[in-house]
Amino acid sequence: MNKIIYLDAAASALKSRAVIDTEMDFLREHYANAGRGVCARATAVDGMVNHTRHRVADFIGANATQIVFTSGTTDGMNRIVQMIRSMYPQSHFVVAVSDLDHHSARMPWQNLANRGECDLVLCPLNAAFDIDVDQIPVADVMVITAMSNVLGVPQDVASIIRHARRKNPHVITIIDAAQYVAHAKIDVHEWGCDFLCFSGHKIGADTGLGVMYIRDPDATAADKFGGGMVNKILDNGEFILNPSPEKFEAGTMPLTQISGLGVAIDEWTAWDGASELISYMYDALVKIPRINLLTGRGAALISFTVDGMHILDFGMRVGARGICMRVGNMCATWIHRALGIAGSARLSVGPWNTRADADRAIEIIRDVVGQ
Ligand SMILES: Cc1ncc(COP(=O)(O)O)c(C=O)c1O
Repeated sequence: MNKIIYLDAAASALKSRAVIDTEMDFLREHYANAGRGVCARATAVDGMVNHTRHRVADFIGANATQIVFTSGTTDGMNRIVQMIRSMYPQSHFVVAVSDLDHHSARMPWQNLANRGECDLVLCPLNAAFDIDVDQIPVADVMVITAMSNVLGVPQDVASIIRHARRKNPHVITIIDAAQYVAHAKIDVHEWGCDFLCFSGHKIGADTGLGVMYIRDPDATAADKFGGGMVNKILDNGEFILNPSPEKFEAGTMPLTQISGLGVAIDEWTAWDGASELISYMYDALVKIPRINLLTGRGAALISFTVDGMHILDFGMRVGARGICMRVGNMCATWIHRALGIAGSARLSVGPWNTRADADRAIEIIRDVVGQ
């Protein structure tokens, strides 16, 4: 039987023993709902959520009131569209997107554009496939993918935002940090972005949990309504909401996942082995003639195509021998179109990966492509 080698951290990170144990302990010993009860257990869960929120705030340079728990990047990105629309109901938006965008970042706006409710403009990429700061269009809203899940290069978000604000000082900037968060330090203050989203599962926390940063929560309208967010309902039906973050967290939160997030962040930030392993595999792959690398040596991941072999065939063949890697369009149709290809294969690593994993993967890839 082939040993399974998981080289798909960029899709979702494996969970460490410490994260699993923390969640199990929460479920077995400490479980209660948050934001509702006054008993000791309930207030302890409130404390855990509050503590984790502060940990996340530190992690990205924010205040705890600016941190909202969501179910993931996709959820956050869709919610931001609704928030912006409800705050400016009569407006027609010009929304700048780029070919680096994952479907999660662009589809919610694409959907609005297809209904005639906004116009999309493209933020051109330069020859290196980075966002071209000299060609940023005038826009009301700008979606910025801080790191493409295909190319793995950190974008200069602060500079992109500065240039966008020169074109329109009021532009609302939304950062998709789903990949960036796993590889580089985020500082929302330095970036000056209005919104930012990432998913816990890409940095070793559980699925079903995301983070949405809102720069000015007081000036941002709630988009979801329900329990836990209401301060007072008046007889005439009007209501007063709790301040942020409660205002944005209607309903029961993914408490088990939140319980593991702090440990996941601590572990993930203590690991810095990605670039060494990625460079090591890169140096081997670059010598295989049938492999066309789409990424450079310094990228956070490796993407490639194989000459004369459909990428799904390649994925199935290496998969049959235990190598778990992503193949296909990676929910990133536009960058593949810009590269003139339908799909690619991607290797990405996490703290569980070793040199031996890399050696075995390269050996199998070499075998499969016949070189
Ligand atoms: C760049 C990027 N944005 C958004 C997402 C969506 O994240 P999720 O599926 O956790 O909502 C992903 C996930 O692959 C991603 O890589």
